[in-house]
Amino acid sequence: MDEIWVEKYRPQKLAEVVGQKTTTSRLSNYVKEKSMPHLMFSGPAGTGKTSSAIALAKEMFKENWKYNVHELNASDERGIDVVRGKIKEFARTAPLGEEGFKIIFLDEADALTSAAQAALRRTMEKYSRTCRFILSCNYSSKIIDPIQSRCAVFRFRPVKEEEMKKYLKYVSGKQNLKITDDGLDAVVYLAQGDMRRGINNLQMAAASGIESIDSDVVYQAVAAARPDEIRGALEYAIAGKFSKARECLDKLQITYGLAGEDIVRQMHRTIREMDITDDTKIGLISALAETDFRIGEGANAWIQIEAAIAQFVNAGKNLNRELEK
Ligand SMILES: Nc1ncnc2c1ncn2[C@@H]1O[C@H](COP(=O)(O)OP(=O)(O)O)[C@@H](O)[C@H]1O
Ligand SMILES: [Mg+2]
Repeated sequence: MDEIWVEKYRPQKLAEVVGQKTTTSRLSNYVKEKSMPHLMFSGPAGTGKTSSAIALAKEMFKENWKYNVHELNASDERGIDVVRGKIKEFARTAPLGEEGFKIIFLDEADALTSAAQAALRRTMEKYSRTCRFILSCNYSSKIIDPIQSRCAVFRFRPVKEEEMKKYLKYVSGKQNLKITDDGLDAVVYLAQGDMRRGINNLQMAAASGIESIDSDVVYQAVAAARPDEIRGALEYAIAGKFSKARECLDKLQITYGLAGEDIVRQMHRTIREMDITDDTKIGLISALAETDFRIGEGANAWIQIEAAIAQFVNAGKNLNRELEK
């Protein structure tokens, strides 16, 4: 089996992390000074938090890095036991080398219960001489204040489109993958700043075995509708053509095997990007929000989507009335 590209192309050095330049240069300074405070990395998935933590540790400790670094995923064990057990156990043993401290990398720390976070705070204090924590999380607001205030906080941003495109081009080149410019654009569009998703989608498109990958191949491979197809359905609805709009969506369901939730998500994004008045947008978004909620509660997705289209038709009617005035 082919390797997993997200692992194969994981940045090994801070300098290789794409985007996040202010963050990585500050982290490099810690390496130079051979010292660091507790750190907190917050930001969306697939932006380089884990990669940066590991790269920092490798540059800091060089050949001793494996001994001095302990990696834990808090979402596997969310309770207080993990803090009392594994974390304490590792924190207690002496570090190796001249730096005089070791690193505990706690991935997805926002999954820890608040009791576990309180215990973590005490552990951070107790072993602060020999142990630095790197906490990673999606939302810093889910980490209790006393922990936040003990950490230098670094915010990871969604990877910019141009930067992602450049990296995906590099990966494609390494993999001898032929991909058209609009194919790459499609991968970047679907990734929404998540580099992990971008690389995964690229690998999925490659697995189609098609010689030259264009945007059609990409959308097929990742089972996403083309944005213009979603837009077409929405435009029919706004123009009052209920049956036409429904036909479009039926087609998407059959061609791409899209789930109702995916359609809702893609519609949301498309509505935001459409060139229509705010009033119409408000009508469409509130109808869609209702749909999203009902599907979440377990209602039949396709019935709900049809009801949403009916609402879109109404929102469109108001728009047309406005225009006639
Ligand atoms: N900033 C980035 N630069 C280069 N590759 C990245 C970046 N962010 C994510 N990746 C890719 O996605 C994979 C997962 O990244 P990771 O650092 O684990 O993200 P996070 O911890 O923020 O969810 C990496 O192995 C790499 O292939
Ligand atoms: Mg991670």
